[in-house]
Amino acid sequence: MANVLVLGLQWGDEGKGKIVDWLCPAFGAVVRYQGGHNAGHTVRFEDQHFALRLIPSGILHASCDCLLGNGMVVEPEAFFEELAGLEAAGVKVRGRLFVSRRAHAILPPAVELDRAREVALGPGRVGTTGRGIGPTYELKAARLGIRLGDLGSSRLEELLNRQVQRIGSELAALGSPLSVSLQTLLKQCREWAERLEPFLVDGSRQLHSWLDAQRSVLFEGAQGSLLDIDHGTYPFVTSSNPTAGGACTGTGVPPRAIHGVLGVVKAYTTRVGGGPFPGELLDGVGDYLRSRGNEFGTVTGRPRRCGWFDVVAVREAVRWNGVEALALTKLDVLDAFETIPICVAYRWRGTRFELVPDDPEVFAECEPEYEWCPGWRTSTVGTVDYDRLPEAAQRYVVRLEELLGAPVVLISTGPRREETIFRPRTELTGWLEGQLPRHYAKRAL
Ligand code: IMP
Repeated sequence: MANVLVLGLQWGDEGKGKIVDWLCPAFGAVVRYQGGHNAGHTVRFEDQHFALRLIPSGILHASCDCLLGNGMVVEPEAFFEELAGLEAAGVKVRGRLFVSRRAHAILPPAVELDRAREVALGPGRVGTTGRGIGPTYELKAARLGIRLGDLGSSRLEELLNRQVQRIGSELAALGSPLSVSLQTLLKQCREWAERLEPFLVDGSRQLHSWLDAQRSVLFEGAQGSLLDIDHGTYPFVTSSNPTAGGACTGTGVPPRAIHGVLGVVKAYTTRVGGGPFPGELLDGVGDYLRSRGNEFGTVTGRPRRCGWFDVVAVREAVRWNGVEALALTKLDVLDAFETIPICVAYRWRGTRFELVPDDPEVFAECEPEYEWCPGWRTSTVGTVDYDRLPEAAQRYVVRLEELLGAPVVLISTGPRREETIFRPRTELTGWLEGQLPRHYAKRAL
């Protein structure tokens, strides 16, 4: 048995959904540990499309149970909507989907505050997804949060009142008074409590019961390491810890319960929302990457900012997370280029940085220094054997491995599950190979 953590090493949208879906057959459970419905991915499963934001794609695999951990923030309506979509498509969810009572509820006042603050920040806004994520984590830290398990409590009115007062006064100061009354909220919360009850568990105990039963668990990070509140590009970050430590605090397992970390990177870089992005391509090349890679937010539909692969930033994320192996996605998006730049350092007023500078103002002014790789100018779409990749594409992969210091064990060459190259080159991926269905292993090198 092995438990693996799969997380993004860039600014989110690395294509984790497809990688997690591909890995699921090897695991008995999939657990999310942070974030909420600011995440989002579309999974194609047996010719059906599912837009999942909260519930891990493991739910589409009959062998997997799923848990939303205590580190998450859950908007009840978003949860019920996803649930209804899955059940309408015939997915058996009940008895397989568990939600920690300790996860915090995103309630309407937090959503209103998130949006009003962004408007007030004007051009300096973070560019949040407007889902109430930040204010909900803030209430949690201020010990004013309402956990899913509290929604049915006799103290609910008192808890709600404290939240409403806190958020109401900030909203009033922003000139956008709270639009929902305490009584309406109370009624809504009681109804949610009833509908949520069948799913609520002590998340840590549930997870440990799977571990005790020797079921392998996949921990799924949302967003990306560079959006981490502690290690990311603060203040242009999300309000949780997508990095490896978050998997322990967000679920209640010790570090030794996680046996390996697989980092997911896209073959180029994207970022949604505000914040520094050295090397952002504001020209036709950026437009090409956006349209060829379909780089539009799954949650908000916003166009993503695009650039070449940034080794400087990803190298940091490899270190924070102890990444043992890499999954490289969307390699096929680079098929048409004659040469492919990789950002290997930053330059700022004559200084060269191989790691991200500490000072956010310096970081904001950094220019990329590129190394140029030959392109392959031939389609790699749907390639399943590493040997069949054009030589220049193999050289690109090898160069990223050298620069990042970790082997690439999975390469995604298209959105479909079959469009994947698997190279089991580490102890952990050797284990994975043994667990995965025969038709996966057959394609291994
Ligand atoms: P929040 O998480 O909605 O508070 O947004 C904070 C920042 O994280 C914004 O720049 C968002 O665009 C970004 N963000 C949040 N979730 C995702 C995601 O799943 N993918 C990419 N960016 C995200």
